[in-house]
Amino acid sequence: MSDMQTPHAGDDRAPDTDVVSLLMRQHGDIRNLFDEVEATKGDERRNAFRRLVRLLAVHETAEEEVVHPFTRKNLAGGGQVADDRLAEEKAAKETLAALDDLDTDDPKFMPQLLKLRAEVQAHARAEERYEFTHIRRSTDVTNLAAMAKAVKAAEAVAPTRPHPGVESAAANMALGPVAALMDRTKDAVRQAMGKDG
Ligand SMILES: [Fe+2]
Ligand SMILES: [Fe+2]
Repeated sequence: MSDMQTPHAGDDRAPDTDVVSLLMRQHGDIRNLFDEVEATKGDERRNAFRRLVRLLAVHETAEEEVVHPFTRKNLAGGGQVADDRLAEEKAAKETLAALDDLDTDDPKFMPQLLKLRAEVQAHARAEERYEFTHIRRSTDVTNLAAMAKAVKAAEAVAPTRPHPGVESAAANMALGPVAALMDRTKDAVRQAMGKDG
């Protein structure tokens, strides 16, 4: 395969055995999906927004189950860092729930989307600065891989990178409401962590 390279956000070839690379990739995907929702209209926007909601549900649930508990337990001052990140996630989830009730063509949709984007991106920057950098330094490759496996279990609940053209309304419907998706994701992550623990 290719040479060793420094993974960066959005890099498809970032090794999925490193939880930090995996989550950085998801942060990049989230940014790209916000761009896509903003740049489209009608069905295209509806579709991009469904994918964004799904990715956010999966990503934030995985972080709540895997990353913030690790921070709380292993990083200096980790209790406060984890509490701050959880508060940000809660605020973003409330904005997301309000947004999820609106049609993507509703005039109120775009201002709410921009609010969500600002919240989510400030939150992601804080995670990268106060958690991700320190997680790599605080644990070994085995544990990074175990955490990556749990995040991938979350991704498997609601695949967020479908092949173009495969996306269907039926597939979106089958995933159900965001809250139910988060519950299923949580179960999958816990199961994956249990197997590794
Ligand atoms: Fe998060
Ligand atoms: Fe994140």
